[in-house]
Amino acid sequence: MNVIELIKKKRDRSSLTKEEIFFLIHNYTKGKIPDYQFSAFLMAAFLNGMNSEETTAITEAMLYSGKIIDLSNIDGIKVDKHSTGGVGDKTSLILAPIVAAAGVKVPMISGRGLGHSGGTLDKLESIFGFRTDLNLTQYRAAIKKNGAVLIGQTKSIAPADKLIYALRDVTATVESIPLITGSIMSKKLAEGIDGLVLDVKTGSGAFMREFKDAKKLADSLIRTAKSFDKKVIGIITDMNQPLGNYIGNWLEVVESVKALQGEDIKDLMKVTHILSGAMIYLGKKAGSIEEGVEISKQMISSGKAFDKFIDIVKTQNGDTSILLDLNKYPKSKYSEKITASKTGYLESVNNYEIGMAALELGAGRLTKEDKIDPKAGIIFHTKIGDKVKKGEVIAELFTDKRSKVDDVKKRISGSLVFSKNSVTKPRLIKKIIT
Ligand code: URA
Repeated sequence: MNVIELIKKKRDRSSLTKEEIFFLIHNYTKGKIPDYQFSAFLMAAFLNGMNSEETTAITEAMLYSGKIIDLSNIDGIKVDKHSTGGVGDKTSLILAPIVAAAGVKVPMISGRGLGHSGGTLDKLESIFGFRTDLNLTQYRAAIKKNGAVLIGQTKSIAPADKLIYALRDVTATVESIPLITGSIMSKKLAEGIDGLVLDVKTGSGAFMREFKDAKKLADSLIRTAKSFDKKVIGIITDMNQPLGNYIGNWLEVVESVKALQGEDIKDLMKVTHILSGAMIYLGKKAGSIEEGVEISKQMISSGKAFDKFIDIVKTQNGDTSILLDLNKYPKSKYSEKITASKTGYLESVNNYEIGMAALELGAGRLTKEDKIDPKAGIIFHTKIGDKVKKGEVIAELFTDKRSKVDDVKKRISGSLVFSKNSVTKPRLIKKIIT
């Protein structure tokens, strides 16, 4: 097989065979296809799409680029959650300890920031010493000990996704249903799970802006999970504004700690509890999602979820002292406030722009080689439907890059639309597909 011929075939809108897709994924993972050729293939797949057979083939090829972990010698049902990506989406950090505290095992393999959206691994690594690169023996031991573990892909877990994800991030090939399906499901199917809850985001900060596309993505993910005999629930949630108020890696850890300590951050906890409730239900510790939500709330109010988070961080070598005294963390060199220029109601947010603004401040990557600044980010105080008075603080930004401050302030202000009339708040949970 010839790489150029396969790129041409996809460019010219033909379908690739399973063998051709395996050839491309295998050889790229082995370093035999250079980034520039694989980027061309990704763009062709992005523009021309892939049918369901191709989507299954790319998922399988990425999955079998590594091993499927066998967790059968660990008691209990293993359930994970994966989000399709958003701005300020820190639910994994909160729900993994909640669900583990409720007695369901959570083996979680996550990704890094992608495009304008943040990644769980980057957030966790902002905790000094936190290791997301455990080997398989340590992975199993951590699940046995705490009931939950959060790591990244290793050489043996979906290595193809690790490489392709980093390349998509910098080649504008993220928002593709087959590529997202392959990426998410190859990681998730490798983990050794019995069940999976999918948080499919829709809105201006999601990869699928329109509900109909989010539904198609949810259907593609669910179809793939079912073809591997996994129990699955898909929940379509709103991403038209940041989830919670904090955006940026350490800032999101701070907000997660507050949430685990019982602060009721309304939108964040509504989404977190429905996801953890669905996980607790799939893990057979509740008879329904609603009962799972109640158990999830109890895990927070009893303090069990926070204690579990501390145990997880300790086991993965993280410095728990900064979690117990959040102010000890180093501060950004520059911080600036954005204030309302007139009184009105926040009508809409271009949430993609907010994600990109955080990235510009240092919270994400523009090239594969970029280093993340864990301190950088935004605290976004205002929610759609809130009334703000002239001069009130809408958002604060934090960065070490002085040269970015003015542009980012403009970018954030330009992404907000205000109305003189009152505005209805968007519905957070748009659809549950069981
Ligand atoms: N999350 C992933 O793991 N992969 C994607 O492609 C998008 C979101």
